[in-house]
Formats: sequence, structure tokens, C-alpha cells
Amino acid sequence: MSDITILNRRRFIKSAGMTALAGAAGAVTTATSTASAQSSTAIPTLAGGKYDFDTPYNRVGTNSSRWDSPARNYPGGEFKYGMGVASMDFECAPCITEALGERCKHHNWGYLSTTEPLRKGIVNWNGERHGIDLEPSSLTLSDGVYPGIIAALRSFVPTGNKVLLTSPCYSGFYSMARAARVDTIDSQMRYVNGRYEIDWEDLESKMTSEVRAMIVCNPQNPTGNVWTEEELLRIGHLALEHKIVVLADEIHSDVVRATHRYVPFASLPDEAVINNSVSFNAISKTFNLAAMKNAYFYSKNPTLLARVNQFHRAELSTLGVVANEAAYQHGAEWFDQANAYLDDNHTFVENYIREHIPNVGYTRNEGTFMTFLDFSKVMAAVGAGDRYKAHDKDTPEEYFQDWLVHNSGIYLNPGSSYGTGGAGHMRMNVASSRLVLKEVFDAMAAAVNRL
Ligand SMILES: Cc1ncc(COP(=O)(O)O)c(C=O)c1O
Repeated sequence: MSDITILNRRRFIKSAGMTALAGAAGAVTTATSTASAQSSTAIPTLAGGKYDFDTPYNRVGTNSSRWDSPARNYPGGEFKYGMGVASMDFECAPCITEALGERCKHHNWGYLSTTEPLRKGIVNWNGERHGIDLEPSSLTLSDGVYPGIIAALRSFVPTGNKVLLTSPCYSGFYSMARAARVDTIDSQMRYVNGRYEIDWEDLESKMTSEVRAMIVCNPQNPTGNVWTEEELLRIGHLALEHKIVVLADEIHSDVVRATHRYVPFASLPDEAVINNSVSFNAISKTFNLAAMKNAYFYSKNPTLLARVNQFHRAELSTLGVVANEAAYQHGAEWFDQANAYLDDNHTFVENYIREHIPNVGYTRNEGTFMTFLDFSKVMAAVGAGDRYKAHDKDTPEEYFQDWLVHNSGIYLNPGSSYGTGGAGHMRMNVASSRLVLKEVFDAMAAAVNRL
């Protein structure tokens, strides 16, 4: 076992939070006690038709970005709760582990022959769930949304020209633009009656001749907005008018609250708008398969698709294909239950903040399992704006990230990573057992309310 694994496991045991949950979830302490228990081989079974999202599933020491990466920055053990990077804490759909186990009985890992069943799975899933008709041959498979969007930016945006973003927006869009050697321009959204809205006047004023593509993230990370058909059409018409190609990042498309509906950009009731777009998707958020490296993109316009394909090359891994195929074919029921659980988590978070942490601003989430919290009052109280430079941080939000770890053990993502409009905010992942969430929020309330 590596040093870091041992360190993290100790830290996990030390974590008051998770051990306190042991009564409710014996699995946590058991999992920390031996290396083999940590990665139990038992595949969970359905109990009374229900999957178990409540029992905390210990990911510490599994080389998990969410739980193991922050610990490296806090060697003193201050870090306890990884509530940042967008992966879920749940045990995955049993069909995935079963399919992987079956494939592992054959001990040869040479090149794959076909991706047809995977393409069929993607087509069926999108057709049944989202009413969109896709052609298997019009899909380009990729090992992530990143490589697809980078290829599209390289194709549509000449170096030195720009891609337009509505901010705050996913920090990865800025890295994608850097990788494609193109510039970004933000149109900051407005906060109107508790919802992030596009500032239409500002958006159009930013659609200059240097802007050649716009990324439309739906559902939107980090704000949790699910764009309506009207909003998407309005973006689509403006983009057409200004000769800007729309890149629709819909990786969070399945994780939508019961009160909202995801509208695929490629299903909008205007062919010209659709033909001016390329869509990027995956079920890596839906089934928590991010490290299985599977995604895809498509366009109803073969010319646009061919242009992106010219800059794109990706190969999928055997296990990634097996896991994704299993999820598409057999995972629907697991996901529906997970999504309902996440919906309840959002309600829990909203109620908790309203009742116990009135100094933190909450925006009602429409989709994704992230929430974008307004900590500006708390940050002012801890002097984040005055202190961040002296603490060698680039932004007040980064200072506050550190403050929160030291004062509560909770690690969140700083709003400043999400472009203009992220100031004073922190992004939080709510895809955890509600027992963990409750404990995290109790720790947050204790730290924030004593100021
Ligand atoms: C909006 C958005 N796009 C893309 C990604 C990354 O996608 P991938 O891991 O498939 O490259 C994420 C991950 O959190 C995301 O939230």
C-alpha cells in the first residue's frame, strides 16, 4: 500500500464526521479497517426494489480525485470532506460491476473490434429519455467531452479568435480554450429573482466578428440552470445571426430535477439553429463513470461534424466500453433512483441553509448535482478580500477555500475558477449520502455561525 493511501486511510478514520456515521453505516468503519474491505468485492443487491444511496461508501484511499487529492494539500489532517470535484459518492449500478467482472474473466486486452453495441446504447438512451433521434453513424465516440470540445474549438476558432461563454461557467471551458490556443470572452449572467439569467444585451454585444464559437452548457455547471426551449432558441438565433457555431455541452443532461426538463439543443424546433450546432455528451455524470473515459459528440450537420472530426482522434478502453454498454442497457432503474435521491439532496440543502445558515446564499438548483453557494457575507466576515494576497492566494475565494478546510474540514471549489460572476461563491457537490451531507452542513454551520 502506498504512503498516501495509508495516510488518507488514517485521516479518514480520524475524521469525526465519517466515524460518527458508523452507527448508521457500519460499512464506513469496516471499510477503513483493512485494505481488502476498503474495496469490497460484494456487489450490492436490491433490497425491496431500492438501491441504497444512504449508506456512506468510503472512497478514501482509492485514488479518488474528490477524496484523495485535497488531502495532499493538508498534511496536518485538517481536510475531512471532499465536496468539490464532480463525481458521485455512491456505489455504482450493480450491472456495471457485474459486466466488468465478467469481462475480467478473459485475460486478453488487445485492440477492440467494434463499438456498435455502445453506439446503439447511446442512440436508444437519447431516444427513449430525451426524444432525440440519432443515427449511430453520426456519432463520434471520444474518451471525454474535453477532447471533443478542444477539437471543435481548433476547427471553428482560428488562433487568436474567441469562444464566448456565459459565466459563471465550468472552469474546464477555460482549460479547453487554452489547449486549443483560442481566447475566451465571458458574458456574465445576471442574478434575477433567485435565478441566473442570460444578460441578452451583454451577450449580443460580445458577439463580435472575432467570436466564432459559443459554449452552451445545459444543464449549466456551476449554477445548476436548466435552460428552457425559449432560452436555447434565442441563443441559437443570435448565434446564427452572428455566424457563431454553438457547442452544446450536455454532459449533465440526465441529472435534472423532477420539476424541470432538459431540451437537447439538437431537438430545437428550428432546423437552421440545429444545423449550426455540435452537441457533446456522455453518461459519465449519469452513472459516475468519469474515469472510464467514454463520451461522444454529434451534429445533424454533416459538414460541421466532419470539420470537428478532422481535429479529433480518440480510442476507447475495453473496460470503459464494457462499463458504458452495461449502464446504457441495464442501468436505467438505478439512475432513476439515484436522480430522485439527488433531487431530495437539493431540497435538504435548501432547507438546511434556510433554517441554519442564513448568512449563506442559496440558489435553487434545476439540474446537475452541484450547487453554487453565495459565501460573500461570510468571506467579508473573515476578511478574505484583505488577506488573500498575504496568504499567497490568487483570489479571495481561494483564501476562503482554505479557511473553510481549516475551520470545518470541508473542501469546496472556489467560485473564482468559474469566470466573471463567480466572486463570493463556492461550488459544492451534493452527490453523497444524506448522512454525510447532514454532517458536512453541521460542520459548516458550526464554523460559519460562530463568526
Ligand atoms: C460541463 C462539463 N463539461 C465537461 C466535463 C468534463 O468532461 P470529461 O470528463 O468527459 O472530459 C465536466 C466535468 O465535470 C463538466 O461539468
